[in-house]
Amino acid sequence: MRIAHFSDLHVLDLAGVDATRLWTNKRATGMLNLKLHRGFKHKPFAVEAIVEDVRAQGVDHVVITGDLSNLALETEFAKVRTMIEALAMGPDRVSVVPGNHDVYTRGSMRTQRFFNAFREFMTDERDVAKVEHHGSGLFPFARPRDGVVFIGVSSAVPRAPVLSAGHVGGAQMSALRALLGERSLRDALPVVLMHHPVINPRGAWRSFSRGLSEADAMREVLASREGDVLFLHGHLHDRGHRTFATTSGGTVHHIGATSASLLHEHPDRAAGYNVYEVEAGTVGRVHARVFDPERRAFFDASVTTKDHRFAD
Ligand SMILES: [Fe+2]
Ligand SMILES: [Fe+2]
Repeated sequence: MRIAHFSDLHVLDLAGVDATRLWTNKRATGMLNLKLHRGFKHKPFAVEAIVEDVRAQGVDHVVITGDLSNLALETEFAKVRTMIEALAMGPDRVSVVPGNHDVYTRGSMRTQRFFNAFREFMTDERDVAKVEHHGSGLFPFARPRDGVVFIGVSSAVPRAPVLSAGHVGGAQMSALRALLGERSLRDALPVVLMHHPVINPRGAWRSFSRGLSEADAMREVLASREGDVLFLHGHLHDRGHRTFATTSGGTVHHIGATSASLLHEHPDRAAGYNVYEVEAGTVGRVHARVFDPERRAFFDASVTTKDHRFAD
């Protein structure tokens, strides 16, 4: 099976949005941030090019690991939906999870706006999420497909301005642990999708402000699996492959995709997507398709192996 992975589209669309709605404290800070950094570098044409290239590559499944939008607005979700529909793969072959930008305000979290907008890409076919384990929607979800099981975990929570840390919660973690131990899924490779990495950035402040307070516990849950695990994340806007061992001697491949819309001079941060070939319960070839905005074309690159102790 071939899996394409992209992330952090950060689609912005303010069309038709009442200006007073943008003036929440959080959105005001977000707008300032956009003006200063994001708006100039995040380009929708890069995402559209990715969609086209993914189609040409003919993969079996597409996963998107959060921050699809910028301010969790309905107009942004509608624009993202058009992009996903352009993949022409149908909801059975596309799985998504939310990022911190998709639950940007408390209101968007309370109404589960993201979950309701993209529900068919997060259907739980194993009834794991019968009860609510996370405020952003019904997580974790499990979608078994031809030798793999896609497991969606939500780490997306609204935070005060300048903070973007994630939160999984004990209930969701227990459900994930049970799922990873399920006998009926023993022969499938778990492909766990979550916005935040489970390896935190270097330094206490960065770890607190951008990381996951439960990173150690989450690594331990993933390591409880017998056999290998493919853990796919976004959030860092940096392409990288880290590994750590499971207790049974398997490997957790912890792989991040960069931002799908970011034009950046560093090859690990330039827009693009990752491709994974998985077979017989293990991870085979891993590579990236990197977008060259000058030529409007993609080239193959390897995914850089990075320090397994820090995500920065
Ligand atoms: Fe992001
Ligand atoms: Fe993020």
